[in-house]
Amino acid sequence: MRTKLIAGNWKMNNDLNESKVLIAKLAKSLKDLELNCEVVICPPYTSLSESATAIVGTKIKLGAQNLHQEESGAYTGEVSAKMLLSTGCEYVIIGHSERRTIFKENDELINKKIDRALKNNLKPIFCVGELLEERENNITEKVIESQVLGGLNGFSENELADLIIAYEPVWAIGTGKTATPEQAEDVHKFIRDLLEKRFSKEFAEKLLILYGGSVKPENSKELLSQKNIDGALVGGACLKAESFVGIIQSA
Ligand code: 13P
Repeated sequence: MRTKLIAGNWKMNNDLNESKVLIAKLAKSLKDLELNCEVVICPPYTSLSESATAIVGTKIKLGAQNLHQEESGAYTGEVSAKMLLSTGCEYVIIGHSERRTIFKENDELINKKIDRALKNNLKPIFCVGELLEERENNITEKVIESQVLGGLNGFSENELADLIIAYEPVWAIGTGKTATPEQAEDVHKFIRDLLEKRFSKEFAEKLLILYGGSVKPENSKELLSQKNIDGALVGGACLKAESFVGIIQSA
């Protein structure tokens, strides 16, 4: 049985004070709920340390939105895995489509970032997803296959024990357009089968595959009830405690 995971990607939102207010509201709403899932928030770097303090004694865990692929050094403006770990992070999002498109991250770089995260005991939330044009050209599976295999190139299944994959169709991110539960389930099943071929059935069966792209309380229940959808990576709807908690409750 895979335990579901609901992660909130705050993106470039919430200063320190806003972060504390949001966490306090979340913690209050989650306090008396019986949760059947893990809850992770991924605030911006500047709020990580304070967020780690604010979640003590709550059911919330902490993740970051990115990291640098090198261990340390002359990389002005960058943040290392070790620094994230020292703030209290357990998870890190890697290869988000906004990093791929705006910041030109490719599979090779993402592969190095996954390696760096794992070497520092951070759990990577490795994102893949096709563009609208790619879906319309019927090459979704080809794109996903090359992103998954490229990102995981050179790893053994033992090294990837802490890996989480997030399928986020780019056309569904921040657009209000969600993949239908069937569309999402098809790709999740494809990813699981691919991992079974690349690694083993046991590995593929254990791995969490999250869905992301305009997830909200109105559509989360149906998405999360699909056989191969093990949770959600939420953007816009995680910035309000009520909607994030609504999604958590549907898990
Ligand atoms: P939205 O939920 O705003 O579509 O964003 C999804 C996302 O990019 C999460 O990483």
